[in-house]
Amino acid sequence: MEYETPLFFHVMQHAARADRDVIDMVSGNPDWEPPEALREALHEYADLESSAFQYPPSDGIAELREEIARRRGVDVETVIVTNGAGEANYLAMARALERDAGSEVILTDPVYPYYPGKTTMLGGRQRFVPTAADGNLDPDAVRAAASEETAAIVVNSPNNPTGAVYPERTVRELVAIAEEYDAILVSDEVYDHFDLSGRFFSALDIDSDRLIVTNSFSKSMAITGFRVGYAIVPKELVADARSRHMLVNVAGSYPAQYAVAHALRETEPAYYERSRELLVDRVDAFTAALDAAGAEYTRPDGAFYVMARFDGFRGSLENVERLIDEAGVAGMPGETFGTSREAWLRFALVTPRVEEAAERLATYFEDR
Ligand SMILES: Cc1ncc(COP(=O)(O)O)c(C=O)c1O
Repeated sequence: MEYETPLFFHVMQHAARADRDVIDMVSGNPDWEPPEALREALHEYADLESSAFQYPPSDGIAELREEIARRRGVDVETVIVTNGAGEANYLAMARALERDAGSEVILTDPVYPYYPGKTTMLGGRQRFVPTAADGNLDPDAVRAAASEETAAIVVNSPNNPTGAVYPERTVRELVAIAEEYDAILVSDEVYDHFDLSGRFFSALDIDSDRLIVTNSFSKSMAITGFRVGYAIVPKELVADARSRHMLVNVAGSYPAQYAVAHALRETEPAYYERSRELLVDRVDAFTAALDAAGAEYTRPDGAFYVMARFDGFRGSLENVERLIDEAGVAGMPGETFGTSREAWLRFALVTPRVEEAAERLATYFEDR
């Protein structure tokens, strides 16, 4: 089986080799500060007894699992602490596909590219459902694509790359479709703290044994390097998911989980509010400059990406490399996210220089 290296790495490498100043809007790495309590806990950890440097429980340290369960209103037995949402999605999709209940995975187009990659890796087949222009998903289109072959439906709200936030009705319908077809709805909610619309609805508010919710602290605490996430898995599916996690990883990182548990308890809602405010300012600044550049774009309701389109300029890898070399702005090619956004580019708002980036783009396209 062939695994492709995610395109993201090629773009990053090209930007790193560029012979000029490049504004990096490629990655999903927040450039803002983590909670203060996280740094405090890391310092504290360094002075703990050496027994705290040994294997933690495989499914996560008790204080973190309990805190997650309390906050999310679920039984602690259903929580597996993972190496980020990346592993949580892998466990969820593997669990869905190993049940002998079909081998198709319904995905959206555009799509977060690791989902189709994982589907191939796990021996499943992708079935794509195009979203509306604003990124919203029509549950009827998902129902039309569903069949006895459907093992999983994998969705992400707030969405990377479109910025769509699915309304409650959509989420309820998706759970209902999963139940109807004996499939698992995997609801990746990694951007839940970056709901800029006030309309985010977590699938966890629905009680279903066909639902796995995945999440992480990578984005909410600006710690993509810590690798702490979780999956909330229904009781009848959790034992096998836990075994897979143990066989692949033995356990997660103790210091990272310790720091996250502490930060989760100590961090006030104001921290998350500040991150959202920062993003709203960046969305305003970037989209205003895109308006001035005459670009078409979608204003995100959540997450931290803007998709933009410049007339006659495809969202290909070659064009992204051209923008790095000639405009000094690095984004992601729309073709990474499926077939429906091949004419688009995705820009991550993870730099204070968003306005300057849009101005560089405006100048570049004016001169072309
Ligand atoms: C939709 C989505 N899911 C999962 C991930 C991976 O998150 P983590 O760092 O928690 O593995 C990302 C990262 O960008 C993402 O955009």
